[in-house]
Amino acid sequence: MDGRDLVRSVKAVGSLGFAQGLRAVGAAWRRRRADAAGLPPRGAERARVPGPLREAEPGPGGGVIRFGRAELRIMVTVHGAVFWGWDGAGPEPSYALAGRCPEPDPRAVLEPDKDGGWRVVAERMTVAVSRHGAVEVQTPGGVMLRRDLPPRWWEPVGGGPARWLQRSRVPADARFFGLGGRASGPRLRDGVYRLWNTDPGFAFGPGDDPLYITMPVQMVVADAATHLVFHDTSWDGTVTLREGEEGAGSGHDRAGACELRMEGGPLRCWVMVGTPARVLLAWASLTGAAALPPAWALGHHHARWGFGSEQEVRRIVAGYQERGLPLDAVHLDIDHFDEHQVFTVDEERFPKLSGLAEELRRDGVRLVSIVDPAVKASAGNAVYDSGTAEDVFVRDASGRVVRGLGWPGDSVFPDFTHARVRAWWGRWYEERLALGFSGFWHDMNEPTSFTAFGESTLPRSARHSLEGRGGDHREAHNVYALGMARAGYEGLRELAPEQRPFVFSRSGWAGMQRYGGTWSGDVATGWPGLRASLSLVMGLGLCGVPYSGPDVGGFDGSPSPELFLRWFQMAAYLPLFRTHASLRAGRREPWEFGPEVLEHARVALVERRRLLPYFLTLAHLARRTGAPYVRPLWWGAPEDRVLRDCEDAFLLGDCLLVAPVLDPGTDRRAVQLPRGRWYDTATGRAYQGPGQVLVDAPLSRIPVLARAGAVIPVRGADGGLELEVWAPARGRTGGGLVVPDSGEGWQEPEIERYVSRWEGRRVVVRREGEDGVGAPPHPVRLRGVADGEGRV
Ligand code: GLC
Repeated sequence: MDGRDLVRSVKAVGSLGFAQGLRAVGAAWRRRRADAAGLPPRGAERARVPGPLREAEPGPGGGVIRFGRAELRIMVTVHGAVFWGWDGAGPEPSYALAGRCPEPDPRAVLEPDKDGGWRVVAERMTVAVSRHGAVEVQTPGGVMLRRDLPPRWWEPVGGGPARWLQRSRVPADARFFGLGGRASGPRLRDGVYRLWNTDPGFAFGPGDDPLYITMPVQMVVADAATHLVFHDTSWDGTVTLREGEEGAGSGHDRAGACELRMEGGPLRCWVMVGTPARVLLAWASLTGAAALPPAWALGHHHARWGFGSEQEVRRIVAGYQERGLPLDAVHLDIDHFDEHQVFTVDEERFPKLSGLAEELRRDGVRLVSIVDPAVKASAGNAVYDSGTAEDVFVRDASGRVVRGLGWPGDSVFPDFTHARVRAWWGRWYEERLALGFSGFWHDMNEPTSFTAFGESTLPRSARHSLEGRGGDHREAHNVYALGMARAGYEGLRELAPEQRPFVFSRSGWAGMQRYGGTWSGDVATGWPGLRASLSLVMGLGLCGVPYSGPDVGGFDGSPSPELFLRWFQMAAYLPLFRTHASLRAGRREPWEFGPEVLEHARVALVERRRLLPYFLTLAHLARRTGAPYVRPLWWGAPEDRVLRDCEDAFLLGDCLLVAPVLDPGTDRRAVQLPRGRWYDTATGRAYQGPGQVLVDAPLSRIPVLARAGAVIPVRGADGGLELEVWAPARGRTGGGLVVPDSGEGWQEPEIERYVSRWEGRRVVVRREGEDGVGAPPHPVRLRGVADGEGRV
C-alpha cells in the first residue's frame, strides 16, 4: 500500500463509525485471504513483440496481417469506424457494443504499402501497418493522427492472462479528453490515470483519481482532426498521458504520447475519425443510443441522505411549494430502508410510503429510490433468501459465497455479469414501483465493499459468469455497474413497458448510456469541488454519457451561501440538476441560505423550468446523434486552440453558452467566445467572437449567452411551447432544431427544423420540412433587437 492508499483507507474508515470500522478490518482480512488462496502469484514472464511482418490476407473491410510472433486483424465497418485486434481478438464478445458488431465496409481494402507494410484506405482515414507492427491512423490526406508503436506482451510462463503495453504518439498540438469521469479536466493534463472504478471513500476534489467511472475511451483533438480511440478491455490498467510541445518556429515538435498498460484482456481497439460530432455519432452507433429521460427527470431534484421520515419529506416539499419554487423529484436515500437493506422500507419512519408517493405525484413531484447492490447476508431478508435459493451471489475461487461489507453490514453481491441474475434483480423493481417510486439511483456499485485496508471492493479472485465464459473480478470489476444498470433498465422495461425508465448510476463503463445516466458521486464541498463537478460532466459527455450532474453544494460540509448559489446556478444548466448531501452535512434547501440566495435560486429554478423543452430536445438529439447536451467550447471549432484549452465554460446544445462563476467574490468574468455574435441573455448586449470578453456576473446570475440566430424551444407562460429567437447578425442566417416531446412514453416526435434570417427590416423564422417551408406552429418571441426594429 502506498502513502496515498493509506490516507484513503484512514479517511474512508474514519467515516464509517466504530462498529462498521471494526467490521471493515475483518472484511479487509477476508479479502486478503481470498486473494492469497485464489490468485496464484505471478511467476516468471516471457516478453513478446510482434516480430517481422510475414504475410497479409485480405478479408472483408480489411484483413489479417501476420507477423513472426503475433497476428493483427483490421476491419473497417460501415459506420466508418475501424477495429483492430491482436492475437485473434475480434470485436466480440464486448460489454461496450450495443448488439452485434457492425458490418465490415466492403469498400475498404487491404493493400501493400510502399515500405513493405500494408494499409487499409477508408473514407475518413487510412490505417497503415508497418513491417514491425506499428499501426498509424492518418487523415485521408496522409497526416498522422495516432501512431501505435508495436505492442509488447508479458506472458506468464505457467499460463494465464498476459499483461500488455501499447505506446502511442499523437500530434504535438493534440489535447486529450475522456477516460470516463475525471475530477480534473476536461482537458487531461500530463499524468497517470487509472482504469479501475473506485469509490474514493471520502468527498473528492480535483486531485483525486481514479473515481467511480473509468473508461478506456480517449477523445483526442488536434488541428488535423479529432479521433476517439476505445481499447475494449475491462481489466485494470493505467493510461499515462503527455501532451506534445511545439517547437515555436524551430520546426522541432515533440509529439504527444500515450501509454496504455493493462493487466490483462485482449489488445483490441476501435478508432473513429472526424469532427467531434461525427466521432460521437460513430461512437453512439457502436455502443448504443442514450436512454431518453422522462421530462420530470430534466427538472429539479432534491435529495439528501437522512431525511429520516415521511414528515421531513413533506416538510421539504411544502417548503418548495410555499415559496413557489419548482420541484420535480425527491430522492430517498438508504435511511428509508429497514436497517439499510435494499428493497425494504423502514415501516416506522416511512409507514405510508405509497400514500406519500401518490400525494407527491398529485403535486407533480416524483419519488426516486436509491438502490445498492450489497444485499445483507441475513436469513429472513427476502432478497437474500431468494438470491440464495436462485444462486445469484458472487462466489470465491473455492466456491463459497463472497462476504463483503456494505451499508447494511455483512453483505453478498449479485453477479450482474450473468443474464439469469440480471433478470432476477430486475424483478425486484416491482416492489419499488408498487410503492410508487418513479426513478432509480444506483449507488455503491463499483462495487464498493468497505475494507480497513487494501481495495474497497470484492476480492480480485472472486468468480463471475461473464455471460457464461467464466472469469474473475479482475475482468468483471469495471463492468459490474454496467450490468446492474442493464438489470434495472431491462427489469423496468418489462414491469412498466409504457414508461421511460429513469436510472442513474454512480459507477459504469463504456455503453452505460444505453441504460441511463450518472452523477458526480461524493464531490467535496468547496470551490475546487464545483470545478471538478463541471469537469466530470463534460468529460463523461465526450465518452458518450450525456446525462449527468453534481451534488449541488457538494456532498460533505456546509457550503457558504455564495458557493451554494454559484453551484445551483451552474447546475441549472446541466442535465441532472440535483441538490444532495451527506447525513452529516449542512442543509441544502435553497431557503436555508438567506433571502438573497433564495431569490436568486428561484430565478435559476424558474429558468430551468422555462428551458425544459430545450432540454428535452437536447435529450432527443443526444439519443439520435450522440452529441452531449453539455459540450466544451471547442465542439464546433476543434481547430481553435484557445477554445481547446478553455475549461471554465460550456455550450448547452448549439444555442447557449454558459459561463458559470467558479471563484468567490466574482461580479464579472472573462468569457472566451467562439466565432460569431453572442448575446448576453440577461442584458441583450451583443458581443462578437472569436475572442475574450468581460461579462457581468452579479450574484443574481451567471452569464448565459445565446448564439445569434438561435431558435430555442421554451415553455411559455401558459405552459405551451414557444420559440425564443435571437436575431441573426445582419446578412447571416441562424436556426435551431426542436423535438416537441410530451416527456413520457415512447412516441417518436418528428424533428422540427427552423431557419432564422433577416428579410429587409424584419427577422423571419420559417420551418423547413420535407413538404416545403412554412410558418412555425408555435408562438415566436424575438430577442436581441432594438425596440421597434426587426419584428418577426
Ligand atoms: C454514497 C453515495 C451518496 C449517498 C451515500 C449514502 O456515499 O455516493 O450519494 O448519499 O452513499 O447512501
